[in-house]
This record gives sequence, C-alpha cells and structure tokens, in this order.
Amino acid sequence: MRDLIKKLTEISSPSGREDTIRQAILKELENHIDGYEIDKLGNLIVWKKGKTEKKVLLDAHMDEIGVVVTNIDDNGFLRIDMVGGVSPYTILSSKIRFGDIVGIVGMEGETVNDMKNNLKELSFDKLFVDIGVKSKEEAEKLCPIGTFGTYDGYFIEQGDFYISKSMDDRIGCIAIIEVFKRLKNPTNSIYGVFAVQEEVGIVGARVAGYKIDPDVAIAIDVTGVGDTPKGNKRTSMKLGNGACIKVKDGYSISDRKIVETLKEIAKKYNIPYQMEVLIYGGTDARGYQGTKSGIPSATVSIATRYIHTPNEMVHKKDVEATIQLLTKYVEEGI
Ligand code: CO
Ligand code: ZN
Repeated sequence: MRDLIKKLTEISSPSGREDTIRQAILKELENHIDGYEIDKLGNLIVWKKGKTEKKVLLDAHMDEIGVVVTNIDDNGFLRIDMVGGVSPYTILSSKIRFGDIVGIVGMEGETVNDMKNNLKELSFDKLFVDIGVKSKEEAEKLCPIGTFGTYDGYFIEQGDFYISKSMDDRIGCIAIIEVFKRLKNPTNSIYGVFAVQEEVGIVGARVAGYKIDPDVAIAIDVTGVGDTPKGNKRTSMKLGNGACIKVKDGYSISDRKIVETLKEIAKKYNIPYQMEVLIYGGTDARGYQGTKSGIPSATVSIATRYIHTPNEMVHKKDVEATIQLLTKYVEEGI
C-alpha cells in the first residue's frame, strides 16, 4: 500500500483535470471489480455485485487543489488564481507543477516596506510564478493562459507517518481501492465513486449520486486536527487515534443510523475510532445527501495535519483502521 500511496499522491491532477489520476486508479482496480463506467463529468464509478438489491456507495474525490494561469507578463512571469482552497501564504516559495514544467512562486516588493506590507496581507495579486524563461513568447509556449498546475510535492514515509501532497483525497481513494481488493462476497452491491471537482464545490458527487441512487453513501476524506502546538482547541481529532466517524462538519450532518452502525462495527471488531465534529469544511457527503430524493449519507475521515499544503501528514494506523472499518461495514450489509 505504501507504494500505491506514493504513486497516487505524486500524480498531478487538479480539479477539472483528473485524467491522469483516473487512469491510475482504474488500472489499480481492474482485477477487483465487476464493471466500471466514466460518466459525462469524468467521475470514475466502479462496482462489485452483491446478493441483495441494495446499493452501498463509497466515495472519495480524486481531484486535488491547484492553480490556473491567468496572465503572462512581458518577461514571462505567470499570474495565477487558485483552483479550490489554496492559501497565498502556503503557496509562497513553493514549487508548482504545470505538466512537465515546474515554476517557483515569488512575491512582489520594490522596497523592504513593500515586502513587509505584502506579507501582512498576502493575496494572489502579489504573487507570480517564475518558470525560468525570459519572454512572454517562451512562457506562452510552455504554460499558456488556462494551464492548470498543482503543488510539486513528493512522498515521504517516516516512522508511523506518511507525508505527501494531495493526501486530500488520494488517501481516501486508496482506502476504497483497498476495500475493493479485500472484499470477497459482498452482501449488497458496492459502488466506488472516484469523484471529480470536489475541491471547487462538490461537483462530481452530486451527479454520481443521482445516477446510482444508492441506499447509503459514505464519503471518505481527510479531516482537520487539533493535535499540534496551539492547535484548534475546539477540535478533538488526533493522528493515530483511529478512523474518524464524522457527526457533523460545516456542510453536512451525517445520517444518524449510519453513524451508529459504524460505531457498533468499530467496537465489535476492535477497530480504533474517534468521533469527529469538524467546525468548518465539508465533503462529498453533502453532494449525496442533497441529490435525487435524498440519500442517507455520512463521512469517514482520516485525521490529517497541514491540509491543503504540499506536506499533508497522516498516520499509518488511521489509514488501516479506516480501511478495516469500511470493509467490515460493507461486508456486514445494510
Ligand atoms: Co480538500
Ligand atoms: Zn478532500
């Protein structure tokens, strides 16, 4: 699984440009599914037939946050905007990958005072990307306006931790891939949705839910933690404390019955878990909940530090607990 995490997190596939990650996920799953389809928006939907008519849907979004080129100046410096939630503070001085090209994010400042002020209230207006060319013409050839990019991060395994860009939400994709690999004879039919464009407003999940109309939908995504120095006091989630069973976040309230069942299963099989209330954010669960005539939905999360940075950190035990919890949930049937 370590190699799969490295492989999938190092793929650069921002929202709206999910082709590469979709191919990689499909290749990984080929021998573990009964069928698949790619819908009109680009969601990858896979399934394994069960013994009953009931359908359980597991979702993870395969897109990642990124940037898009908005303008190019005469000296070949790019201006960018964010694709999804990217902080100008995080992106400053980072490397951005636009396909085969890598650029460095720099900040304006003609005087020391300028620079101080820009840092105080940093915005994308003050940032540019340097791709190492000298003219507009050269830049236009390599990264024309409308080119999408992502952080150029790489995978690290250290002690109990995995660190990489786009753990959000490739680690969720990997959890679903593992469930499909481990699943023998599912009671209900299991659908895996690798959704597009979560980071720009839960676009893919909504239409996938409408099409499949499952009895239950569970989104798997990363969640924020409060376990770093002076971390958020109103947040209880910690790395290493097990799978997070979400009760609520900024976008959705999890279906009560699903939450209770997940809790019972975790207890029954001694799978480490923690209850999660996230005071901001949201997941694809919101998309499922509000589609068709309403789908009972919930989220199982993996506690993650430094979300939406090039160095998102997760704990090995939490990843394993999440896979076990979901596998047991779908095995037991609803
Ligand atoms: Co995200
Ligand atoms: Zn996410």
